[in-house]
Amino acid sequence: MHIQKSLDKMKIDIITVLPELLESPFSHSIMKRARDKGLLEVNTHHLRNWAVNSYGQVDDYQYGGGAGMVMMCEPLANAIETLQQETKYDEVIYVTPDGELFNQKTANQLSLKENLLIICGHYKGIDQRIRDHFVTREISIGDYVLSGGELAAAIIVDAIGRLIPGVLNDETSALFDSFQDDLLAPPVYTRPADFRGWKVPEELLTGDPKIINAWRLEESIRITDLKRPNLRKDDQ
Ligand code: 6GU
Repeated sequence: MHIQKSLDKMKIDIITVLPELLESPFSHSIMKRARDKGLLEVNTHHLRNWAVNSYGQVDDYQYGGGAGMVMMCEPLANAIETLQQETKYDEVIYVTPDGELFNQKTANQLSLKENLLIICGHYKGIDQRIRDHFVTREISIGDYVLSGGELAAAIIVDAIGRLIPGVLNDETSALFDSFQDDLLAPPVYTRPADFRGWKVPEELLTGDPKIINAWRLEESIRITDLKRPNLRKDDQ
């Protein structure tokens, strides 16, 4: 279990060509509450504000030929440097299918940071020089290709945001999430205790925390071994 330091607020700035895609994910439920409580600030920054011309150009053909556009150095460098004048970022993250695979451990680590900058790529990606000179961490959310980094960024921010101290309450606590302690979460049930003859496991009805916790742990181990045997073996 990781220990969370207490911090006032986390700020995440996101550079994107599609800010609209990043509005709804943070405007509901737990992310909305985190923002309303002032624990999480998420700001999107439209890359076109730093376009190289009045057409709003931010991408160009790739050297060496080949299909697909590449996001240019100048708008990205100017956007990053402008934001860096205001904020000292703990990480400048580029979301990309060839980055390190995102998991709960990465989410835990990043939830301890104060200021993050996330760059969303599009088309064929961003000019390598931006990765070489500005980016400190490259993250992929899985081995498949999305049409842009925004949905990946939304997933990363959601996973991090809910871990910020004070965002979750006792009822939504992250302590018993799947992947904390490298185990999947046990099954859950609610009323009625008997639905069409399908019964809730009797251990959960005992009201005895010892019995309930033992059952949950046993089920967590059983389910993890069944569905994701590598989780318990991997040193992640
Ligand atoms: Cl972070 N970006 C894109 N464009 N595709 C992805 C990804 C990220 N992670 C998996 N596929």
